[in-house]
Amino acid sequence: MDAYEAIVSRVSIRRFKPDPIPDDVIKKILEAGIRAPSAGNGQQWYFIVVKDNEELKAKLHELILKAHIKYAEEVMREGTMPEEVKRRWLEALRKGEMYKAPLYIAAYLDLRRSQYKKEYEELERVWAIQSLSAAIENMILAAWAEGIGSVWLGDPLLMPDEFNALLKPPEGCELQAIVAFGYPARTPKPRPRKPLEEVSKWL
Ligand SMILES: Cc1cc2nc3c(=O)[nH]c(=O)nc-3n(C[C@H](O)[C@H](O)[C@H](O)COP(=O)(O)O)c2cc1C
Repeated sequence: MDAYEAIVSRVSIRRFKPDPIPDDVIKKILEAGIRAPSAGNGQQWYFIVVKDNEELKAKLHELILKAHIKYAEEVMREGTMPEEVKRRWLEALRKGEMYKAPLYIAAYLDLRRSQYKKEYEELERVWAIQSLSAAIENMILAAWAEGIGSVWLGDPLLMPDEFNALLKPPEGCELQAIVAFGYPARTPKPRPRKPLEEVSKWL
């Protein structure tokens, strides 16, 4: 699969087969992550890989479901999602089938070492988040090219303390996302995109 094909064929996967992902493939995914561009080559990222500890994975999965239920019940504006779709989504979440994955990678922002002057602190943070996002997307695409699906999870940010209590990141690291990886059990149809004319202009 070439890079463009991987980019355009990728969809988020939310139901996975239980089959484990081999360590050499996990390493390849992580290597793709750290090849991402980063502001000033600062590489202010830290990744926590959860793959073998079944007890920890089960707790993490439970928390991921909890975060999604909170999102569905408390965060979304009325009318964002048709009521019937929301009801079915909540039902699936409560059944516990979604987001159960053989591999989770938690992506942390690591601003313990700053490389810019104090007055540029906010900008440094923005740049570091952009850089980490590039690393996350690299991992997702590298995995896809290996036949591995994934979903980028932002909902854990609704309760970062609970996730940190499980994952025990180094002091000073800040949770930005968790990515669930696994061989797809169900591959959904591609989600629609706004037309290019609406989101771009050529000058
Ligand atoms: C920053 C970010 C946060 C996301 N958080 C979640 C999430 O918490 N749960 C989820 O199921 N999908 C999440 N997604 C995936 C999006 O829902 C998905 O990318 C979008 O609907 C487009 O679908 P596609 O990836 O299949 O093209 C997130 C994506 C991004 C970039």
